[in-house]
Amino acid sequence: MRDVNQPLLFETSWEVANKVGGIYTVIKTKVPVTVQEYGDRYHLTGPWNRYSAPVEVEEIEPEIPAIKAAIDAITAQGIQVLYGRWLIDGAPRVILFDIESATYKLDEWKGDLWRVAGIPSPPHDTETNDSILFGYLNAWFLGEVAKHDTEHAIIAQFHEWQAGVGAVLCNKRKIDVATIFTTHATLLGRYLCAGNVDFYNNLKHFNVDEEAGKRGIYHRYCIERAAAHCVDVFTTVSNITAYEAEYLLRRKPDGVLPNGLNVVKFSAMHEFQNLHQVAKERINHFVRGHFYGHYNFELENTLYFFTAGRYEYRNKGIDMYIEALARLNGRLKACNSPITVVAFIITPAKVNSFTVETLKGQALIKQLEDTVEEVSARVGKRIFDMAARGKEPQIEDLLTEQDRVLLKRRVFSLKRDSLPPIVTHNMVNDSEDPVLGQLRAVHLFNNDDDRVKVVFHPEFLNANNPVIGLDYEEFIRGTHLGVFPSYYEPWGYTPAECTVMGVPSITTNLSGFGCFMEDNIVNPQDYGIYIVDRRLKSAEESMDQLATFMFDFCQKTRRQRINQRNRTERLSDILDWKRMGIEYMKARQCALRRCYPDSFDDASSFAAYDNDDEPPKLSRPQSIPGTPLIGADLSTYDLAALSISAELPGVKNQEDEDHDLRPPINLKMKTPLMTPT
Ligand code: UDP
Ligand code: G6P
Ligand code: GLC
Repeated sequence: MRDVNQPLLFETSWEVANKVGGIYTVIKTKVPVTVQEYGDRYHLTGPWNRYSAPVEVEEIEPEIPAIKAAIDAITAQGIQVLYGRWLIDGAPRVILFDIESATYKLDEWKGDLWRVAGIPSPPHDTETNDSILFGYLNAWFLGEVAKHDTEHAIIAQFHEWQAGVGAVLCNKRKIDVATIFTTHATLLGRYLCAGNVDFYNNLKHFNVDEEAGKRGIYHRYCIERAAAHCVDVFTTVSNITAYEAEYLLRRKPDGVLPNGLNVVKFSAMHEFQNLHQVAKERINHFVRGHFYGHYNFELENTLYFFTAGRYEYRNKGIDMYIEALARLNGRLKACNSPITVVAFIITPAKVNSFTVETLKGQALIKQLEDTVEEVSARVGKRIFDMAARGKEPQIEDLLTEQDRVLLKRRVFSLKRDSLPPIVTHNMVNDSEDPVLGQLRAVHLFNNDDDRVKVVFHPEFLNANNPVIGLDYEEFIRGTHLGVFPSYYEPWGYTPAECTVMGVPSITTNLSGFGCFMEDNIVNPQDYGIYIVDRRLKSAEESMDQLATFMFDFCQKTRRQRINQRNRTERLSDILDWKRMGIEYMKARQCALRRCYPDSFDDASSFAAYDNDDEPPKLSRPQSIPGTPLIGADLSTYDLAALSISAELPGVKNQEDEDHDLRPPINLKMKTPLMTPT
């Protein structure tokens, strides 16, 4: 009988040491808590990306005999495998398979997949072919490990459909491992939402096979659905995706594993406010260059909004963001607001390079900066000289004619006839790009009188970027508001990342993160989490609500913004993997029990999943006067906190005052969905 107290854990994802989107963030940030629990019994398996692996992974020798034997068996057949430590927090062991070295097996495995699981695979879908190779390699490896180690229980957790074939094969080959399949979206959901479908109202009625067929993803859908049905435990990342999966994949998830963050990495205690100022200054630098010749607004009165993520125009709500920005522009103009908003859109599209205008702007501003530095040094020297000789320096003596001419030349070079560009790169498909198309349609052209300026940066950020030389994380810190009005968003890391860095954000009640916040906090808005209703409102109403959130944000004073950032940052704890990781532990326990029932002598520990108590929500910040309690559902309030707030005398403007009296955030997790059979 296998030992269920010291199980080996293998977590498999296409995004292990291979960054694509949010799943990479899940895998990477969760490592420290998993390593803490499993130590060397924890391994991640992924594809061997020849480009990123050399910088992300340090090769080492496997120590566990069964793992060494499994790798030897596979490499003996010509497959290249890298065993090493992933150089991230927690330094977990990874096993990376070179997919290409297995290509010679592709036809054989595709035939086998059809025979054992009835899953078809057309010839030219490279992504599916890679997933098949990856799945077969994983199953081969796990089969070998299970053969060589009969002492320990083994848990294999597969993330997303790209890893799904491995899960299917574990079942079909009866490999003695406990399996979990975690989906971070459904394929069909993503595709249907990207089109113009009223998704949520029709969820129960889609003919799933037909819809998948129409979109050319039937075979991928088969992998995903088979994986969901073949495992001991099936999970998703949010309740909203659990609901979707139940209808589209036809299995109700056993549990929800919400995504956390490794908050140690992001939390900078009270210093995060200073970090905001420093990073904002770097964005200011970019803005001066980008808007040269039309830089007629005060940076002191400028707010930075942004949206970021993979380029899923409708799913990520970029369409709604742009429309709401146009409305915001109108409203700010109408009330003669002193505020200017610079709104960034950061999402990778097909590009050739930076535009000459973009590079020129940065070069000109750098030149001006250098010249001013030189001139200032000379002026300083002159003042010193004069003062040393006992002469009081006169302003007109300080600049020489030569300096004046030099400065004049620099100032002249900042004149330009064209408007500041709305996009930083040359797009491969400028005329058909949806973002550019809509910016043009709503006339956001960075005109001088526009109060909302836009910058579309069609590439993810990194510190070596010659234009905005900031990492994504630093960039977020420098901004004032993240705007993520997603229509389809199983979780949505982007607003969560804002939160742990103390940056307020806007999300929706169609995103896993937004629903999680709504479920756990009485009034998320008090903490700088604005949730647009895209569920019950029409698109027009949602757009208006979004524009109103942004407009109201523009009315805040600096002090109010600082206070709100403090509050937002306090939510970090509830997003920490130390808390979120508990749901992963439960899922693993559940899988072990289902796979190895004879190793457990009681059924009682299932009770851990069956906690039906509604946990209290996080109360409003204490600086906010208590909501009238008549008719309110008291069970959702933190009564202790409310009674303290009642004692705070005459708080006039709730946002001007922030009281650090409040206890640390104490939140109980929502009832998990685990429903053991
Ligand atoms: N991201 C990034 N660089 C950028 C913009 C975004 O690395 O310039 C990352 C971001 O940190 C986040 C991920 O992309 O972790 C997006 O994850 P999310 O869950 O929001 O969406 P997904 O792409 O998985 O649908
Ligand atoms: C942080 C800094 C302050 C700065 C403020 C600007 O709080 O610690 O020194 O004044 O940011 O805030 P704002 O919202 O105007 O960027
Ligand atoms: C998917 C979803 C995203 C989620 C991420 C991590 O890519 O689109 O919403 O945050 O996975 O779970």
